Amino acid sequence: MKINKDYLNLSENYLFSEIASRVKKYGAEHPDKEIIRLGIGDVTKPIAEPIMAALKSAVDEMGKKETFRGYAPDRGYEFLRKAISDIDYKKRGCDIEPDEIFVSDGAKSDCGNIQEIFDKDNVVAVTDPVYPVYADTNVMAGRKIIYMPCTKENGFIPEIPKKKADIIYLCFPNNPTGTVIKKDQLQKFIDYAQTNDSVIIYDAAYEAYITEEGIPHSIYECEGAKEVAIELHSFSKNAGFTGLRLGYAVVPKALKREGVSLNALWARRHATKYNGAPYIVQRAGEAVYSEAGMKAVMTQVREYMENATLIRTKLSDMGYEVFGGVNAPYIWMKVPKEMSGWDFFDLLLDKANVVGTPGEGFGKCGAGYFRLTAFGDKNDTQRAMERIKGI
Ligand code: MLT
Repeated sequence: MKINKDYLNLSENYLFSEIASRVKKYGAEHPDKEIIRLGIGDVTKPIAEPIMAALKSAVDEMGKKETFRGYAPDRGYEFLRKAISDIDYKKRGCDIEPDEIFVSDGAKSDCGNIQEIFDKDNVVAVTDPVYPVYADTNVMAGRKIIYMPCTKENGFIPEIPKKKADIIYLCFPNNPTGTVIKKDQLQKFIDYAQTNDSVIIYDAAYEAYITEEGIPHSIYECEGAKEVAIELHSFSKNAGFTGLRLGYAVVPKALKREGVSLNALWARRHATKYNGAPYIVQRAGEAVYSEAGMKAVMTQVREYMENATLIRTKLSDMGYEVFGGVNAPYIWMKVPKEMSGWDFFDLLLDKANVVGTPGEGFGKCGAGYFRLTAFGDKNDTQRAMERIKGI
């Protein structure tokens, strides 16, 4: 038996596991300290009432013979895929049909698993800094990775790859920098993918946080995107499903490579390796698209964005240079000159008992930066800012 040696090319721990273990250790050594967590982008608001009502009613259905459900359809229930197609796409002028949508247990699984349908020899381009899942899962698969630097100088928007990239991961609104891409900038990636026969994996998990006009909510708002892009969505960040687990991938029927439909490949993979998100969670997902559900979700998003504004403003007032936080729930800050992101992590944890995420955890270009999330409780976020001011 031989192990997959490509795993040995990974850093020892997944970024957020590493942070959790450091915070746990600190907490055990300082049991008197109350720690405020603005590190991992986990939500703090409970699931909104109209969504809970749908979840509970689905739970009741499962307890009655007449309404009980067993295995879900491979691609997800039609009621949910239809709601996604209508509201996330057709309402925005994007013609995405329910049979181009695959319901899953979250965008993290999809963005980790999607690479399975591509050959090992493909060259993968990711941004630097990057949400570690895109890079790590391709390292696990033994693929060559090239990095597209996102710096203050380029406004954290990657340049089109200079070398040929077969698969390109993009995430906008961006995790971790909190920045957004304009339609004409995104169009350049689509044009590149068309010329080079590449496929773009577009992670739109934070789309609900776009507050400004003119920023694309979906890559399919751009011309030709259906022939080159797969889009991933999450119910975690907009509707608070980090614990419930629900997401979806769009693999358009027009997306073909070497004469093969990627929709068919993903359908085959999905049917073989996955038995679907739970019925009750898919019903809760459907309720996110009800009038009351959408209203409740948008209220929560707005409230998280008030935290983002607070963090941005307070840090700027303290003299820090900050980015993001206008169309995204992440604030990307420059740490004091002589420090690394990890030094700042230790300082904040020790002196302010506040947890954030060091930029180095997202890649080389994250060095000297630090990410704070707006997903905390409002009062905690205010107290965290006061504590940071005090150090
Ligand atoms: C993050 O903090 O980057 C995200 O919460 C991680 C995730 O969504 O998996």
